[in-house]
Amino acid sequence: MRDDLFRHVQGLSFRFHSQTTTGQLMSRATNDLFTISELAHHGPEDVVISLVRIIGSAAILWHMNGLLALTLFGILPFMFLFAYRYSLKVKDALKRNNERIGDINAQLEDSLSGIRVVQSFTGEALETAKFRDANRSFLESRKRSYLAEALLFNGLTSFMSFMNIAVVVAGAVLISQERLQLTELITFLLYMNTITDPVKRLVNFTQFLQNGIAGFERFVELLQVKPDIADAEDAVELERVRGCVEFCGVGFQYDEGGPYVFRNMNLSVQPGEYVALVGSSGVGKTTLCQLIPRFYDATEGDIFIDGANIRNVTLKSLRSHIGIVQQDVYLFAGTIRDNILYGKPDASEEEVIAAAKHAHAHEFIMSLPNGFDTYVGQRGIKLSGGQKQRISIARVFLKNPAVLIFDEATSALDNESERAVQESLERLASQRTTFVIAHRLSTIRNADRIVVITEQGIAEEGTHEQLLERDGEYAKLYRLQFR
Ligand SMILES: Nc1ncnc2c1ncn2[C@@H]1O[C@H](COP(=O)(O)OP(=O)(O)O)[C@@H](O)[C@H]1O
Ligand SMILES: [Mg+2]
Repeated sequence: MRDDLFRHVQGLSFRFHSQTTTGQLMSRATNDLFTISELAHHGPEDVVISLVRIIGSAAILWHMNGLLALTLFGILPFMFLFAYRYSLKVKDALKRNNERIGDINAQLEDSLSGIRVVQSFTGEALETAKFRDANRSFLESRKRSYLAEALLFNGLTSFMSFMNIAVVVAGAVLISQERLQLTELITFLLYMNTITDPVKRLVNFTQFLQNGIAGFERFVELLQVKPDIADAEDAVELERVRGCVEFCGVGFQYDEGGPYVFRNMNLSVQPGEYVALVGSSGVGKTTLCQLIPRFYDATEGDIFIDGANIRNVTLKSLRSHIGIVQQDVYLFAGTIRDNILYGKPDASEEEVIAAAKHAHAHEFIMSLPNGFDTYVGQRGIKLSGGQKQRISIARVFLKNPAVLIFDEATSALDNESERAVQESLERLASQRTTFVIAHRLSTIRNADRIVVITEQGIAEEGTHEQLLERDGEYAKLYRLQFR
C-alpha cells in the first residue's frame, strides 16, 4: 500500500504539490499506514479468538441455565449498539489526530529545511513557537480522542458490571421462587467471566479497528486524487523530435476563475533556434516554459511539438525530449556520479565523463578528493552554486534532449562561474531548440530571436540589433541595464 501511495503521489501534478505540504504526505505514507499494519497484525487473531470463545461460552451458559443466559444475552445487543456508536466517535477523533500529526510533520519539515535561514535570522524562538502550536493542537486533539476512548471503554465496563448485577438479581428472583439453587447461580456467575474476557478483547480490537479505518480512509482519500495531468487515452509516443515548438493562442491561469497570467500567446520556434524570453519579473516567462513539458496544461489554446499536440502524446516521451536547467538546482543526496547519471541511468562511465567535460565540470570534480564519488549532501549543500549548476548541466547533456529550457540558469552565480556556466550552456544549446530566460541582457545578445513579453502578451520580437533599432520595450530595458 505504501508503494502504491508513493507511486500515486509521484504522478500528481505540480498543481497538487504546490497545494500540499511534504510533511502531510510523509505523515500519510508512514504514520497512517502504520495503523493499518497494526490492525492487520493483531486484528484477525483477536477476532477469531474472541468469537470462538464467545460462541463457546454462550453455548455452555445456555446449557447451564437458559433463563439466566437470556438475561445476559438480552443486554448484549445494547452493549454492541453502544460500542458501535461510540467507536465511530473514537474513529473521528483518531482521524483528527492523524491530521494533527501531519501538521507536526509539515511544520518540522518546513523549519528544518530552512534551518540555515532560521539560524541566520536567529529565528529559533519563532520556529519553536510555531512548532509548539502544532504540537499543542495535536495534544488537544489527542485529549479529545482519549476522552472518546475513555467513554467507550468505561461504558463497556459498565455494561459488563450491569450484566453481573442483572444476573444476580434474576438469580435471586429465581431462587426465591425455588426454581434455582444457590450453587447453580454461583457456578453461573463464575463461568460468566469466560464470556466477559473475550468481549473485553473484542472491545480492545475496536480500538485497532477504528485506528486502522481512520488511516485507511486517509489512504483512500489521497489515492482518489486524480492526477490532473495524465496521458490521454489514445496518447502516442513522441519519437525522434526535431524541435519545432509552436504556441497557438495559448492562455493560462493558475486557478480556475483566477487572473490570466497571459492570453492569446502565439509563438513559433524552428528546430535549433535559440530564443530568449525577456520581460519584467512576474510577467509569466517561467510559467510559459512550464507549459511545454506539461507541468501545467494550458487553459486555452494548444502547444505543438513537431506538429504533434502535446496533449496527445505520452508525458514520459514528451518530457524525455525536454531538458531544463533552472536557477535553483536540485541535487539528490548521493554522489556526483549518481546525480549526473540521473540524466540517463544506464549511461557508461565514458559517457558520464564526456558529459562532465562538456559541462566544464570535469576539472573541478577531479580536484575533489573522491572525484565522481564525492558525496554532495542533501540538495547538494556541499557544493558551490556554480559547481551545482554545472553538474545539473552535465545531467542534461547525458539526457540529450531536443528542446532545452534555461530558466535564469546563471542568475544566481558570480561573474566567474557565470562565464564558465554560460559557456557550457552554449555548448549544450548548439543544434537544439533552446528557450532562454535571463535577466542579464548581456547573456542573450547573440540569441537568434529575442521575444519581449509584457502583460499584454508578446510586445515585440527580433534580433538584438533589430530591437534596438525599433527603440521599443527591449531598447528601454537594455538602456536601463547599461546606463
Ligand atoms: N504555483 C503558482 N500558483 C499561482 N500563481 C503563480 C504560481 N507560480 C507563479 N504564479 C504567478 O504567476 C505569475 C507569473 O510568474 P512567473 O511565470 O514565475 O514569472 P516570471 O518567470 O516571468 O518572473 C506571477 O504573478 C506569479 O505570482
Ligand atoms: Mg521566472
